[in-house]
Amino acid sequence: MAKNTMTLTDNRNGKSYEYNIIDGTRGPSVVDISTFYKDSGMFTYDPGYTSTASCESKITFIDGENSELRYRGYDIADLAGKHSFLDVSYLLMRGKLPTPEASKNFDLEIRHRSFLNEGIIRLFDALPDGAHPMATMGAATMALAAFYKDHLHLEDEEQFKMMRRRILAKMPTIAAMAYRNSIGTPLIYPDVNKYFTENFLYMLRAYPGGRMKYLGDGKNQEIRQVEIDALDAIFTLHADHEQNASTTTVRNVGSTEAHPYVAIASGISALWGSAHGGANEKVMDQLKLIGDVKNVPTYIAKAKDKNDPFRLMGFGHRVYKNRDPRAETLKGLQDKLREELNLDSKLLDVAAAVEEAALKDDYFKERGLYPNIDFYSGVILTALKIPVEMFTPIFVIGRTPGWLSQWSELKQDPKHKIARPRQLYTGN
Ligand code: ACO
Repeated sequence: MAKNTMTLTDNRNGKSYEYNIIDGTRGPSVVDISTFYKDSGMFTYDPGYTSTASCESKITFIDGENSELRYRGYDIADLAGKHSFLDVSYLLMRGKLPTPEASKNFDLEIRHRSFLNEGIIRLFDALPDGAHPMATMGAATMALAAFYKDHLHLEDEEQFKMMRRRILAKMPTIAAMAYRNSIGTPLIYPDVNKYFTENFLYMLRAYPGGRMKYLGDGKNQEIRQVEIDALDAIFTLHADHEQNASTTTVRNVGSTEAHPYVAIASGISALWGSAHGGANEKVMDQLKLIGDVKNVPTYIAKAKDKNDPFRLMGFGHRVYKNRDPRAETLKGLQDKLREELNLDSKLLDVAAAVEEAALKDDYFKERGLYPNIDFYSGVILTALKIPVEMFTPIFVIGRTPGWLSQWSELKQDPKHKIARPRQLYTGN
């Protein structure tokens, strides 16, 4: 709803152009400059879209100054650990939490759609041992488009919903099989008797036949409820984050009318980068580098030294200049896991010492540098015996309902156009 206007004046010739200011429900207002080129013959310039709203959305709201993150109006703290990840996925995709009956049906359907076509499984054979699971996941998700050709035309609402459920259901299977294929162990098929998150842990850990214990040392591989709950909450905390790089990629590819599986595969590619989904791996590298609680002051000093490029990984955030609301929930999970799994990890001690030292240091306080989601997620995933190369695939599983919701919203937006930015040409 247009309430106000902004006038832009070209000081070279005194010409003025007036644009509507549009208020959202919350957050900064926007200036609608969509006719700016037609009016003035000029483009706007905004590398990295730091001041550009690329779409209208009703899915996720972030207030970085006040540490707020909401999915469809619900505070993240009221969702993570309090509703299942599948219910939160339903909320993101459908706009409302499911009734108990809808929740049960959704869960059942996801279980039954979790299998992969054998042709996709054969595709794994073509990829070498040691392939990063993200590479395999991208390829397998792309390949879904070859198997589900019926979804090239999505006018049918039921097919539209089925497509979303199918991708969501298959992502943990793709991720677990991509990992097992990379280390050359037999693939484990989904177990329809298990809930989404338990099924994923099962497919990662089990031996063929469903055995969960090592034969040799009897080391316990049983999946505990506390582990399922922790990973389920991690999925929820990653489920959407409005127009981030991978979501924008999914929307851009979707805007060309490309197949939805291809759009999601593009999101996987964008998420792989260390500036995006790969940051939690770096936190782990750094905690290992610090190595011991006694070395923490040295590294805090390095992080504060302007002549040293060292930065404390897992601290600071482009949007959150206050506490990252997701990190708060993760901190609680980390403490719970430590107690319930009886973890005695040097890494956890180092992480706790880094956090304590930074939080009371003026350098970090003055700059609003707080632990972000990546600071805790790596430590928690390690406690869950998740290998480091699976950290980003886990982010993919969590982010899939967000991508699907954003893709659907784009498709249903009568104002959507092919994403086609302009440029400032400075070449010959
Ligand atoms: N360690 C030490 N100093 C830092 C850190 C850090 N982790 N982060 C920011 N600073 C300092 C900067 O040196 C700068 O100091 P100055 O004002 O004296 O020059 C000030 O804080 C502001 O930093 P910017 O880089 O301008 O902040 P920006 O918002 O551009 O960067 C970013 C945010 C990239 C996340 C940054 O905080 C960082 O590099 N953090 C470490 C990497 C990390 O954890 N990334 C994951 C982020 S979460 C995610 O993306 C999923």
